[in-house]
Amino acid sequence: MDNKKLKDVIKSCIEKKNAPGLLRLAFHDSGTFCKKENNGGVSGSITNLSELARDENDGLKNSAELVMKLKEKLPDVSVPDLIAVAGAVAVEICGGPAIEVQLGRKECFKDAPESRLPDENDGPKELQHKFARMGFSAKDLVVLSGAHTLGDARDKAFTDDRLTFSNSYFKNLAKKDLPAHLGRFKSDEALTEDSSLQKYVDQYAADEELFFRDFKESYIKMTNLGFKS
Ligand code: HEM
Repeated sequence: MDNKKLKDVIKSCIEKKNAPGLLRLAFHDSGTFCKKENNGGVSGSITNLSELARDENDGLKNSAELVMKLKEKLPDVSVPDLIAVAGAVAVEICGGPAIEVQLGRKECFKDAPESRLPDENDGPKELQHKFARMGFSAKDLVVLSGAHTLGDARDKAFTDDRLTFSNSYFKNLAKKDLPAHLGRFKSDEALTEDSSLQKYVDQYAADEELFFRDFKESYIKMTNLGFKS
């Protein structure tokens, strides 16, 4: 099946309210990759109940179940391909860039290595270390964090329009005091605590087109981490 057809089927099966969870799921399936050890990464193992039970994956069960429903409709598409494309569709239906990811990821349901994903209490150094382990630059770290334009920092939305993909996350980061109805984590604030990260925050806050272009590029890289065909 080609990418466009696959996207159309996924679009017909999901609702906008599913978008934040699906985008986060795509990160949690790929962000366990270690470049040096060449393990972890896209596999579909994030749908294992054992992986979903980890603290780092709290809140992702419904999104994983949605992907398994897609799998029933699309048995010939691998689970990691469904996750990668569903994350791209999530961005697109919320008004973000259209992203075409390559297909052909192999399924592997062995649990991914634990404790590799970033934590909400991570500071700039820890975040940079964890993203570098995946093979990512400071720019990839900042631009992918822009996914927090969608959804919630637990009980409060990150931005005023939690289902619109925009550069509002970066605009909000520039505000020292976030309005009380919005939320963010220490790891979000960390992007403004190191000049090598802050420079990208400033660029994306000023230029949404640039954010969309760079997000697209880094999302493709993200969904290729540990790609085995
Ligand atoms: C930079 C390091 C990151 C940290 C520490 C982090 C941490 C978190 C945490 C703690 C939540 C709240 C989850 C909950 O409801 O309990 C969250 C939500 C979310 N994250 Fe991240 N995240 C990071 C990067 C990313 C990336 C790279 C993506 C995707 C490209 C992403 C996508 C999302 C989305 C869309 C949500 C909202 C989910 C929802 O409302 O259901 N995050 N993140």
